[in-house]
Amino acid sequence: NLTTSLHNYTFQNPLMNASGVHCYTTEQLDELLASDAGTLVTKSATTEYRQGNPEPRYRNLALGSINSMGLPNEGLKYYLDYVLGKQTDAQVPPLFLSVAGLSMAEDLEMLAQIEKTDFNGLTELNLSCPNVPGKPQVAYDFEATEKMLDEAFSIFHKPLGVKLPPYFDLAQFDIMANILNKYPLAYINTINSVGNGLYIDVDSETVAIKPKGGFGGLGGAYILPTALANVHAFRQRLNPEIAIIGTGGVQNGADVFAHILAGADMVQVGTQLAKDGPAVFTRLTQELTNLMTEKNYQTLADFRGKVKTL
Ligand code: DHB
Repeated sequence: NLTTSLHNYTFQNPLMNASGVHCYTTEQLDELLASDAGTLVTKSATTEYRQGNPEPRYRNLALGSINSMGLPNEGLKYYLDYVLGKQTDAQVPPLFLSVAGLSMAEDLEMLAQIEKTDFNGLTELNLSCPNVPGKPQVAYDFEATEKMLDEAFSIFHKPLGVKLPPYFDLAQFDIMANILNKYPLAYINTINSVGNGLYIDVDSETVAIKPKGGFGGLGGAYILPTALANVHAFRQRLNPEIAIIGTGGVQNGADVFAHILAGADMVQVGTQLAKDGPAVFTRLTQELTNLMTEKNYQTLADFRGKVKTL
């Protein structure tokens, strides 16, 4: 039994795509719905269509991935129409709609647009896109984050979560958790890619992606310990009403298990989904189920947040 709940929503299992992977088009979104994932999140939207950065802009690497997509997306209306069209289908679980404006004004405009509809899923405000040249990540600016959340909650009354970048200093977790605890957030999603890594191929003496001279967000095995640290550090600091989606470095069922041990309510898969396609969710749910059987756990709650210290 992999059932999990987040805020007031229930899902058959805790697995879903990480935003940005296999979620740009209605065809890809339909493939996720047809897979063994518990639900999905749409590609982070801006108000209007964006072409994104020049290609190549995503590369799989032996230990993960590097990307600098630059927010290519079909525009908010496309994704909003998709989730609204699905929510009358009783077979479809609650869906996540991600937005990532290039300014606070654009974020607020999109939230206002969603607020006007009868969308009854979860909205994710992405404060951590590292890939738009000249636009620093909001969530590394604590004052800007607080201002953004003040304004967001003054106009938006549906369930809202935030996508956060990785933090690396315990003082950053203290400051950020203090800010987040002031708001009625449904959840946080941690972590986005580890921003602005640089992969260098020594044979060709060349970087792996074209935008920004090769700098890009890292995913995959490179980032699992950083992801687990962020999930656990926030679980230790956030109000229990704020759920946590753990994202980063999941390659197999044991990695999903580790995220839940660290305190994750749901777990997202990016790089491994990009490598394997939506069939990855069949393998991951099976591996997680097998591991729970071996360990004699019946439900996710039996071990969630219960990582042992020495
Ligand atoms: C993109 C990358 C991100 O990590 C993100 O959160 C949003 C957008 C991108 O490059 O498209």
